[in-house]
Amino acid sequence: MNLETISFKNNTLKILDQTVLPSRQEYLHLATLEQVIEAIKTLKVRGAPAIGVVAAYGLVVEALNLNKNHSLTAEKLKESAKLLKTARPTAVNLAWAADRMIGRIEFLSDAEEILSVLKNEALAIHEEDKQTCDKIGEFGSQLISDGFNILTHCNTGFLATGGIGTALGVVYKAFEQGKKVHVFVDETRPVGQGARLTYWELKQNNVPATLITDNMAGCLMKDKKVDFVITGADRIALNGDTANKIGTYPLAVLAQYHNIPFYVAAPLSTFDPSVKEGDQIPIEQRSKNEVLKFWGIDSLDFYEVFNPAFDVTPGELITGIITEYGILQKPYTDQITRIFKHFNNKGDVL
Ligand code: MRU
Repeated sequence: MNLETISFKNNTLKILDQTVLPSRQEYLHLATLEQVIEAIKTLKVRGAPAIGVVAAYGLVVEALNLNKNHSLTAEKLKESAKLLKTARPTAVNLAWAADRMIGRIEFLSDAEEILSVLKNEALAIHEEDKQTCDKIGEFGSQLISDGFNILTHCNTGFLATGGIGTALGVVYKAFEQGKKVHVFVDETRPVGQGARLTYWELKQNNVPATLITDNMAGCLMKDKKVDFVITGADRIALNGDTANKIGTYPLAVLAQYHNIPFYVAAPLSTFDPSVKEGDQIPIEQRSKNEVLKFWGIDSLDFYEVFNPAFDVTPGELITGIITEYGILQKPYTDQITRIFKHFNNKGDVL
């Protein structure tokens, strides 16, 4: 797909506004850290890896603005990074990118040097994410057979990453290899990432797809219409428990019952080995308006609404986790410990 979803050129950060897709393709210029935080909070940019990339560029934007006022210091940027990290709590890529950026400049004092190091690091994070998506796609596509009907949830493609995507990257690679695949796209209530973004992306790339509402997966599986389920992740604990878009957990339960492989695709930047199990992952609660506006209900005070953005799928329900270093198998604690011993999540061999 020839669509630049995040760009940083001539010191200008631009994102494709995901809240108005698929009706309109509009770009937003994010000129301050506050605008970056607002764009992340309001899902103008969303998807764990994409949030990480924009967070990294957001710190460059902040550094450029501080430099204009002659007040750029590593200490000030540390404070900015702290604020940035509060924008969304579950997707660990945000904190990962912010910490990686700060780690590079922590001991620098020259403003020009800070700026140049930050720019290079943000560009590297973006480029690495692109390459990581390709690798995940290559590994994952080996699991896809010709003729597969694949079911996916939320949006994990071009819009959600710096490259072709994670779970959708696997689909794109398999399609590119000439395999005849067809994708059932979960609508993904309440915000509709599947209906608005994934279906649109797949069509742009000529991949056959059918949109379903979230409560239709069970009957499709029962009727043997689904061969493979694949989703992305927002944070993966040391034991493989995976936080992803609300509605992922019931899909994994259904897949287990119907004996259908259930895979997660995610880069190492989405793993959080400091979290031992899934119940320690902070789950973002979002506004009741997201649930009610679909129905045109604006009497917000009348309704009590439960609206977590994510749920946690136990590692035991996940057949395998596709990463840029290969496909992890159960038991995940051993595998994840081993992979973090060999590679840190900056891609360096240790
Ligand atoms: O609330 P969102 O739209 O940011 O949630 C996104 C997801 O849950 C994705 O599946 C996940 O971030 C992986 S994107 C490659």
